[in-house]
Amino acid sequence: MPKIFLTGCAGFIGSHTSEMLLNQGYHVIGIDNFDPFYARTLKEDNLKILLNFPNFTFIEGDITDSALLDTLPGDIDTVVHLAAKTGVRTSIADPLGYFKANVTGTQTILGWMQRNGIKKMVFASSSSIYGNNIKVPFSESDNVDEQISPYAAAKRAAELINHVYHHLYGINIINLRFFTVFGPRQRPDLAIRKFVESIRDNKPVTLFGDGTSSRDYTYVADIVQGIFSAVEYLNNHERVFEIINLGNSSPISLAEMVNVIYDVMGSKPDIQYQPMQEGDVNQTFADIEKAKRLLNYHPSTSFKLGIQNFVKWYGQQLKTKQISG
Ligand SMILES: NC(=O)c1ccc[n+]([C@@H]2O[C@H](COP(=O)([O-])OP(=O)(O)OC[C@H]3O[C@@H](n4cnc5c(N)ncnc54)[C@H](O)[C@@H]3O)[C@@H](O)[C@H]2O)c1
Repeated sequence: MPKIFLTGCAGFIGSHTSEMLLNQGYHVIGIDNFDPFYARTLKEDNLKILLNFPNFTFIEGDITDSALLDTLPGDIDTVVHLAAKTGVRTSIADPLGYFKANVTGTQTILGWMQRNGIKKMVFASSSSIYGNNIKVPFSESDNVDEQISPYAAAKRAAELINHVYHHLYGINIINLRFFTVFGPRQRPDLAIRKFVESIRDNKPVTLFGDGTSSRDYTYVADIVQGIFSAVEYLNNHERVFEIINLGNSSPISLAEMVNVIYDVMGSKPDIQYQPMQEGDVNQTFADIEKAKRLLNYHPSTSFKLGIQNFVKWYGQQLKTKQISG
């Protein structure tokens, strides 16, 4: 089976995607630098699952390290580039760090691909690129000139550099714009995980804004299916450069999200309202017609089922940690 180089393999989406590709028989070479944005131990837990596969190889390292990339095997077929400094709000305090990892990192990977004749890449872009787009649903043909955080601007810059490498060197690229991904192994900074933790600890839940802001929450298995379809699309087509939304096309308000979590967990904590945070957009809502057409992408996990799966996974994690002391 072809070799895939997957960046950010120890992260939330990266570990799920690697697992799926490994189960499909691909050889995955994964890289991760354990960026300190959240605990290394959580990423090591994700990695442990991947290390059980004989067709998985792990490299601890940084995607901006061109010399390290040059030591990789010469027969890599496709790059699935998911590594990034994540988090919209935190990018405001560290714009240079975000540009280094997310823009220079992408540029470094493209340069290495060009030198080594690697012709296929799936890239993790983001719905945050749409900024405070008024028109819904957000479509790939909408204007995307007005990002409102360094994270979002860096993702857009990476999409643009990807196009340059497609144009100049014929690298075939699919930019997938993910819409708020959730599910087991979810990053600790994301709202769903924070709310579940607060409810478990009987602490008040902090909501930013008045509860009407909304997100097009997309279950991680649906996103992974979309990434896999993009890999297969590149295997079967010539001269590809696409931007494709991967969302659920069914936005949920913050207030609704909290109600579903209460419902699943069976307890209702105090809510403390705080003003909207800088960098946060008001709404996201994906038009997924292009993903349906090109990738046969049909997200199938309801928000409630996704939350049930997350809460179940989270409970199991707590039990395992208590047992192992
Ligand atoms: N989770 C979401 O809702 C969401 C939404 C839109 C886009 N995305 C994008 O999807 C991708 C995966 O996101 P995630 O939620 O799994 O985040 P994550 O933080 O769990 O995973 C990213 C991984 O990349 C690694 N990394 C960061 N900088 C690196 C570097 N310089 N070199 C090597 N590894 C590096 C991190 O250590 C981490 O393990 C990211 O590109 C993110 O921007 C995520």
